[in-house]
Amino acid sequence: MNEKQIREALQTVLHPKLKKSLIDIGMIRDLSIKDDVVKLTLALRSDRSPLKELFIREIEKVVDTLPDISSVQIEFTTLNREEIERLFPKPVLKGIEKVKYFLAVASGKGGVGKTTIAVNVALALVKQGYKVGLLDADVYGPSVPVMLDISEPLNQKDEMIIPKEKYGLRIMSLGMTVGQNEAFIWRGPLVSKAINQLLGQVNWGELDYLVIDLPPGTGDPSITIAQSIPHCSILMITTPQEVALADVRRAIGLFNKIGQPIVGLVENMSYFICSNCTEAIEIFGHGGGVRLSQETGVPLLGTIPIDLDLRQGGDNGVPIMVSAANSLTGLIFQTIAQEISNKIQ
Ligand SMILES: Nc1ncnc2c1ncn2[C@@H]1O[C@H](COP(=O)(O)OP(=O)(O)OP(=O)(O)O)[C@@H](O)[C@H]1O
Ligand SMILES: [Mg+2]
Repeated sequence: MNEKQIREALQTVLHPKLKKSLIDIGMIRDLSIKDDVVKLTLALRSDRSPLKELFIREIEKVVDTLPDISSVQIEFTTLNREEIERLFPKPVLKGIEKVKYFLAVASGKGGVGKTTIAVNVALALVKQGYKVGLLDADVYGPSVPVMLDISEPLNQKDEMIIPKEKYGLRIMSLGMTVGQNEAFIWRGPLVSKAINQLLGQVNWGELDYLVIDLPPGTGDPSITIAQSIPHCSILMITTPQEVALADVRRAIGLFNKIGQPIVGLVENMSYFICSNCTEAIEIFGHGGGVRLSQETGVPLLGTIPIDLDLRQGGDNGVPIMVSAANSLTGLIFQTIAQEISNKIQ
């Protein structure tokens, strides 16, 4: 018997859910014959796949029927993320059907400027001519409504929620559905349901980018959200001091582990230029973002100064990308947005 004949015989081993032969979908691979022994690799979705035993039995059954072959030796491997997505595509949620790219803004720690950056990067993408949505998925403290001064209730059409429009952005926040003070009810197992609702029941329409403000840290919520969105790129935010970097390092490790692509790193509160001086003061230390970038291979897309106008813009609902897009900080956001679109597209 030659390899071709054995491959043909093994065509009858099917994946029970996909109803396709394991040979055709590449789950049986690297087939060879040595003397009277067939060798092959079985690629499974995970090490602990419940179908493993079934597949082994089926393969052995077929091999038993082959003349001149005494046994089969099976090696095991797991499918990579790309193969899993191709073979077992997740159904696309209705609300995000027409969204081209997803960018989730994440951090290791709270309070590093994640929401400020999500808002201003989203606005910088609008300035570049893209259609952009902003989803505030911070289950612990949705603050986008404050930063963009949105308080009117949401509207619905055809059983779908319509995002709010402001400054050319389409905006939706957990804070708009439950009010800031009640946000705690989304903790725990409700998180993934709530997020799926935001993605599935909000009519985002046609968008180039949906920017998502994730909860701080790498707890369940961030991971659940990042994983429930197909092809979601991560933008990591850090501040320069070593304690913040340690958390971001861990976060990057975790996203790498689950195969979530990280588009880049932004260092916030990098330096301060007071109004009476020309020199930048590096309040939180120097070069943290650069070091982290070299260490992890995640590109550093920009460093943002401590800027009074940026903070005020966040407090009064008029972000710096609206009030002063061509200020030093505004231009930095434009560069970061440009880098992001170059990398994602
Ligand atoms: N570069 C900066 N210069 C001045 N103030 C800033 C800067 N970045 C953020 N801030 C201010 O710091 C505070 C925290 O920022 P922000 O809310 O964006 O952080 P966050 O990471 O989203 O926090 P949380 O973890 O609570 O969601 C805000 O008042 C914001 O205006
Ligand atoms: Mg925030």
